[in-house]
Amino acid sequence: MAKGFMKTTKKKAVAPAKAAKKVVKKVVKKKVVVKAATKTEESILSVPHIIGKKRDGKRLTAEEIKWFVDRYTSKIIPDYQMSALLMAMYINGMSTEETAALTDTMLYSGTIIKLDDPTVIDKHSTGGIGDKTTFVVAPIAAAAGVKVPSIAGRGLGFTGGTVDKIEAIKGYQTAVTLEQYQKLLMENGLVLMGQTGDFAPADKVIYALRDVTATVSSIPLITASIMSKKLAEGLAGIVLDVKYGAGAFMKEWKDARALAQSLADTAARFDKKSMVFLTDMSQPLGITVGNSLEVIECIELLKGNAPKDLYDICIELSGGMIFLAGLAKNHKEGMAKAKAMVESGAALKKFEQMIAAQGGDASYVHDYSLFPTAAKRREVCANADGYIASFENEEIGHMCTELGGGRKVANAPIDHGVGFSFHKKIGDKIKKGDLLVTIHYNADQELLCETLAQRFINVIIKVSSKKVPAPKLIAERILR
Ligand code: URA
Repeated sequence: MAKGFMKTTKKKAVAPAKAAKKVVKKVVKKKVVVKAATKTEESILSVPHIIGKKRDGKRLTAEEIKWFVDRYTSKIIPDYQMSALLMAMYINGMSTEETAALTDTMLYSGTIIKLDDPTVIDKHSTGGIGDKTTFVVAPIAAAAGVKVPSIAGRGLGFTGGTVDKIEAIKGYQTAVTLEQYQKLLMENGLVLMGQTGDFAPADKVIYALRDVTATVSSIPLITASIMSKKLAEGLAGIVLDVKYGAGAFMKEWKDARALAQSLADTAARFDKKSMVFLTDMSQPLGITVGNSLEVIECIELLKGNAPKDLYDICIELSGGMIFLAGLAKNHKEGMAKAKAMVESGAALKKFEQMIAAQGGDASYVHDYSLFPTAAKRREVCANADGYIASFENEEIGHMCTELGGGRKVANAPIDHGVGFSFHKKIGDKIKKGDLLVTIHYNADQELLCETLAQRFINVIIKVSSKKVPAPKLIAERILR
């Protein structure tokens, strides 16, 4: 293990035999270790009791949460009972204390790296349609001297996943050991990996279950999921991109604001610096949705050919990381450095270096024909003059899943080649016959493709005869 790294020991779940004794009824005298907890309540360690308690809108104790989650992670509690608890948590919400207990349980389910390095800063987005910023933000920040330990996720609900997308590049290893993690971070200043059994393994299994049980868009569940894996990385600070709108888990600004607060509070509870951005997700970010398509779009950005919204948001986020790392005196200077990393080609070089270091074929960066692509294209054109008014953005994610670009069943394989290219944004003036969307699909999907094309015209893209203002990309920046 390299200098500067310290591993905490793994906390083991309660052994089944011992736990069985506790199942019936137990009054906990011991104070539960959760900073935010205000009082010690009675815990009853029984699976149906805990599910029923949450179903009835009551608060769970920290011990009940830990006991349940540890036993699920250890495969003692089956998926159907965890799914029931997640749905009850989703519907009835969780208090600050419960959220803290869930975050802590998930964080301590695995190894926590401790680094005394103020330049270790990560970024995390709550996810949305066409959200691909990690592929740009991570190499920009790393090129500027930030150490970026990015543990990313697979597709979740209707959104695509960073790990699924980068696996479009042949050979790229998202499964990285702790030793490789520290080597990559120290030598290249950048790791982009999936969750392993080491970091927050409880989140890994619960995340996959939430993906297929419609239990994603919940403030406490998202807070615990994001912060447990991020806090395990050994970071000094984090930039959080909280999305709101039709293509985000938080549809309303006020819910996104509450999520931003919850994430920032959790970061502060662990003495981490944070910068939270509230950003628009009312339309796809950038110009593509789909695994290979999105990676190619990011490589193009790093080569200087960027859609404006994607470029602006990436510069804001990476500028925030450079600032939090202490490599710029304020956010503005951080953004100027971020721009320089794109202009000089340093960020593109860092991206190539990352691909090669994690076993991928870096020639994909210069030869897009190597990417898995769909065999066919279908153009969808406007049937009226007017202005693009809105997108049913979440639907776009579901349609990508229908084509095979996302999952309907946990751990199913995905098709990297399918997806959509968008040619217009909200507020754009259009004429009948203008190209709006290109569908990338496979030869055996003619009928499905036709249905999707009709859906784009009749349901997804709304056209107004009156001028429509473009949405504000960044609504708020919160620095803690
Ligand atoms: N990203 C995560 O890592 N977890 C969530 O629950 C949502 C977004």
